[in-house]
Amino acid sequence: MNNRTFTMIKPDATRNGHTGGILEMINKAGFRIVAMKMTHLSAQKAGEFYAVHKERPFYGELVQFMSSGPITAAILEKDNAVEDFRKLIGATNPAEAAEGTIRKKYATSIGENAVHGSDSNDNALIEGDFFFSKLEQF
Ligand code: CMP
Repeated sequence: MNNRTFTMIKPDATRNGHTGGILEMINKAGFRIVAMKMTHLSAQKAGEFYAVHKERPFYGELVQFMSSGPITAAILEKDNAVEDFRKLIGATNPAEAAEGTIRKKYATSIGENAVHGSDSNDNALIEGDFFFSKLEQF
């Protein structure tokens, strides 16, 4: 399936009151929300979600940050969803993010970068299934 991607609105954006603004940008860009929930990841769950980065020097910081407050997880549908969503969110480092992107508008640093977006169709499925049962994906 190449028409779905997975996103999280991260704890920094949640704390700063940007959940609504980010969802509006997502909708305006033509994505349909087919699953969504607000939740607070434990350090263990955040570590599992980002297990692929386990060997990276920033892993501990990433897990600590991602479990520091509530997040909103969602599955989004649109043609070419993974690639188009990565364009909409912009570069991982907000200093390099293009004008008009979510990270340009809302992210503060490479660690606290407001949103996550899946990097492949395979990961979109894995990440969506991490948060949502099949009964919760519409
Ligand atoms: P995300 O797209 O959620 O996927 C992995 C995350 O690791 C990334 O966003 C960043 O938030 C984080 N990350 C990547 N590089 C660094 C870094 N150099 N320092 C801290 N966090 C990083």
